Amino acid sequence: MKGIQIVATGSAVPKKVMTNDDWAKLVETNDEWIRTRTGIRERHMCENERNIDLGLQAARQALERSGIDKNELAMVIVATFSPDYATPSQACMIHEALELSASVAAFDMNAACSGFLFALKSAAALLEQEDKKYALIVGSEKISSKLDFTDRSTCVLFGDGAGAAVVTTDENAVFAADWGSLGNKEGLYCSYDKEDAYVHMDGQSVFKSAVRTMSECAEHVLAQAEISLEEIPYVVCHQANERIIKSVMKQLGGSEEQFFVNIGKYGNTSAASIPIALNELKESGAVKAGDRVLCVAFGAGFTHCGLLVTF
Ligand code: UT7
Repeated sequence: MKGIQIVATGSAVPKKVMTNDDWAKLVETNDEWIRTRTGIRERHMCENERNIDLGLQAARQALERSGIDKNELAMVIVATFSPDYATPSQACMIHEALELSASVAAFDMNAACSGFLFALKSAAALLEQEDKKYALIVGSEKISSKLDFTDRSTCVLFGDGAGAAVVTTDENAVFAADWGSLGNKEGLYCSYDKEDAYVHMDGQSVFKSAVRTMSECAEHVLAQAEISLEEIPYVVCHQANERIIKSVMKQLGGSEEQFFVNIGKYGNTSAASIPIALNELKESGAVKAGDRVLCVAFGAGFTHCGLLVTF
């Protein structure tokens, strides 16, 4: 199977920045606790922005930077668990705003924090059936709409944002991916119940599963690709907790320079965290054409996905 190639990336965050000190005015917490337990210093939170505003901005940026004709897209997939509407999908709303042709398929995918990678892996397989070469993959979240602002154990952890990538598949890029789900509901959930439509999390059990599962997943991807970690300039883990990322790094025997961390600025943006990170790597010039990046995520469900992308 052809490997996944990133053609261009984009990202968007709401204007409002909320610091740890801002949270300390609302709940019994403090900057030191949040920083040392998670690595988070601040996060962006929506005021008037909707999920679609963030997703569309990131999608437009990726599409413009790609230089492709928008109707060369075979599909738009949006990964999210915090859509504006139950239906239509965020992807169909992006399709409408970008005035794409009727032959471009559009649908959402919910695999929580692993959603962007689930969408990438799915797109790689689906593109094999298409005449058109490109897919637009977006991870977009308005998690502030799902938070209990009185629950300090969850509300300080998350942020809003979106990231996007125009991708294609290429026979010169190595395909290697591993995904799965542990079928867990209680550890991390958010219901539609009007009385309790908030994120609930058993932090410690999620932490332990995240470290174990992401480490195993990354090992499977490297073994499948028959490459060693030293050959990968960057590893992008889902940004849920800097301590989780450091633990995965230790398990795999990697270095701090390899393991990308930007959670300090964004908090946990769920499905948006990996595409925002990929966009930062690209914008900063850290990755060059041909570089391979190992991405790995874990989220509610418990879902997990790891895969190699080539820039
Ligand atoms: O994206 C999906 C995946 N999500 C994750 O991967 C998150 C995984 N879990 C974690 O990152 C960590 O478990 C947390 C950051 C959520 C929590 O860190 P922890 O070291 O596991 O803390 P804890 O839950 O064991 O709580 C320790 C203490 C408790 O107080 P007592 O019972 O020891 O007196 C909590 O009540 O910290 C207290 N606490 C807080 N204190 C200040 C919990 N939240 C806060 C807070 N500020 N915001």
